[in-house]
Amino acid sequence: MNREVLISENSEALAKTFAEHFAKQALQAVEERGRFLAVLSGGGTPLKAYRLLAESPLRESVPWQDVHLFWGDERHISHDDLQSNFYQAREALLKHVNIPEENLHPVQTHLQPDKAAEAYEETLLSYAEASQNCVRFDLVLLGLGNDGHTASLFPSQSALWKNPVIVTEGSYQGRPATRITMTPLAFNQAREIVFLVSGAGKAEALTAALGEIRDVDRFPSQSIEPTDGSVLWMVDKDAREGEQ
Ligand code: 6PG
Repeated sequence: MNREVLISENSEALAKTFAEHFAKQALQAVEERGRFLAVLSGGGTPLKAYRLLAESPLRESVPWQDVHLFWGDERHISHDDLQSNFYQAREALLKHVNIPEENLHPVQTHLQPDKAAEAYEETLLSYAEASQNCVRFDLVLLGLGNDGHTASLFPSQSALWKNPVIVTEGSYQGRPATRITMTPLAFNQAREIVFLVSGAGKAEALTAALGEIRDVDRFPSQSIEPTDGSVLWMVDKDAREGEQ
């Protein structure tokens, strides 16, 4: 697996770097394969980048008609809830660009959690090519929690990651929530995974994630190792260096 760490000066530069990367990868995938299959992340960090993609000049440079968007994880709440990852992406990005509604593939949170996970797994399967048993995303965006979680892959839960999409209870920052999340079985088929990490509060988790000690139960992001793809850590100086 090819791993690279790219350090940006601050969170603004980080957002710009990712937004430009997304646009470039989208163009290339559409040119080469006719479509761009991307997974968006929740959390606050990507919102700046989503807003940049919603504005000129990037908005015009992305071939939105051929972009398909999926969500790496989602809370089991309505799409109109402010905490919904789909809602946040819609407000920051989707409602400002010309992406067809049928290209948006949010988790169907009106279903019961286990049904929603099953339905999402079927959606993913329907985007797999004939020779594949799982979809091969062109780009997966992930975040990093300061407890080391990524998507809704939480510490001490790796025994649960047995299907490409599962239901889990994630307690983060004191708020337990039922979540539907893709697991490494789905993420690791991707061509490229990008982790976006910003702020001094993430420094410890980032150092552990990139460190020598390998333990997916303590550091869930270490389970992200694409079988035939690359991992790019886009981080800002504060996340890499912590408070100086
Ligand atoms: C979510 C996420 C989650 C997130 C991290 C980092 O649904 O909340 O997908 O894994 O990426 O918690 O979140 P921040 O960007 O807000 O720090």
